[in-house]
Amino acid sequence: MLTLSLKSLTPFAAEVHGFDLRAPLGPDGVAAIESAMDQHAVLVFRDQQLDQDQQIALARALGPLDLGLRRVRMVQTRAHRFRHEELADISNVTAEGEVAPRDHAKIVSNLANQLWHSDSSFQKPRAKYSMLYSVVTPQTGGDTEFADLRMAWDALPDWRKRQVEPLAAVHYALHSRFMLGDTHYTPEQRDAIKPAVWPLVQTDPRSGRKILFVGIHACEIPGMSLPEARLLLLDLLEHATQREFIYRHQWRVGDLVMWDNTATLHRGRYFDISERRELRRATTEEVGLSPEAESLAARGADQIAHYRYQTA
Ligand code: OGA
Ligand code: MN
Repeated sequence: MLTLSLKSLTPFAAEVHGFDLRAPLGPDGVAAIESAMDQHAVLVFRDQQLDQDQQIALARALGPLDLGLRRVRMVQTRAHRFRHEELADISNVTAEGEVAPRDHAKIVSNLANQLWHSDSSFQKPRAKYSMLYSVVTPQTGGDTEFADLRMAWDALPDWRKRQVEPLAAVHYALHSRFMLGDTHYTPEQRDAIKPAVWPLVQTDPRSGRKILFVGIHACEIPGMSLPEARLLLLDLLEHATQREFIYRHQWRVGDLVMWDNTATLHRGRYFDISERRELRRATTEEVGLSPEAESLAARGADQIAHYRYQTA
């Protein structure tokens, strides 16, 4: 059995040494990565040289690929710059390869990545592993931070654990955009994106530990008034993103960072958007859970029929 050579960076992030991600991942490689991910939740592979096809092949070996919001055609109408639709363009570059003007739709929509989130938590299945690969880094800023949701749960006081354990939250893809004042979506587009309901407290299907599943996509709690729910979600998010739960990644060209979207949240940090920053992301879907984990994930789904996103 293959084991990765790991150097811990924080309690939940580790750097992997001597692993070339270009080589096709056999069952041994998949098992080694999954086991390291279960243990750590964020893995950093330095000095990789991945083209688009190799990055997609790597991700496919780890599971079916997630399209995120690109699934909803009515909303995602921009030209795609990559050979694969499954590759997310995390850059400020136009389809023609120029740095985009500040008010370009792509810049505006990627700015929401600077709010704490779990990829695709607004849909089912949600994202499992995200793999972000750095192609061009800006001079200043543009780091990515990760927060561990298992540590967040463990550190809650008992009264808070009892309070949140029975609750679920509605995750809606446009909430982060609305928060930033990006409200140009038509009623048809808003409706085309269906929210997902997730329990606030879950057992992480991979590490077996409990997690506090919050993030910026969580915007309502069924059965609770909107202001009370928003305050609670903000409080929990603040708790989950304390400095001691965070790994901050400073990008170098050729880094591939892989994270588990159930066990962690992440956000991009400020950079000057007139400078070029280019990353590509491939993400797998969380499928094939145990029956218990499936039924937990399905909890709250019955409430969705009555749910209507409140914007005003
Ligand atoms: C992402 C993301 C953050 C960043 O690619 O999913 O949130 O730093 N990126 O660009
Ligand atoms: Mn993201």
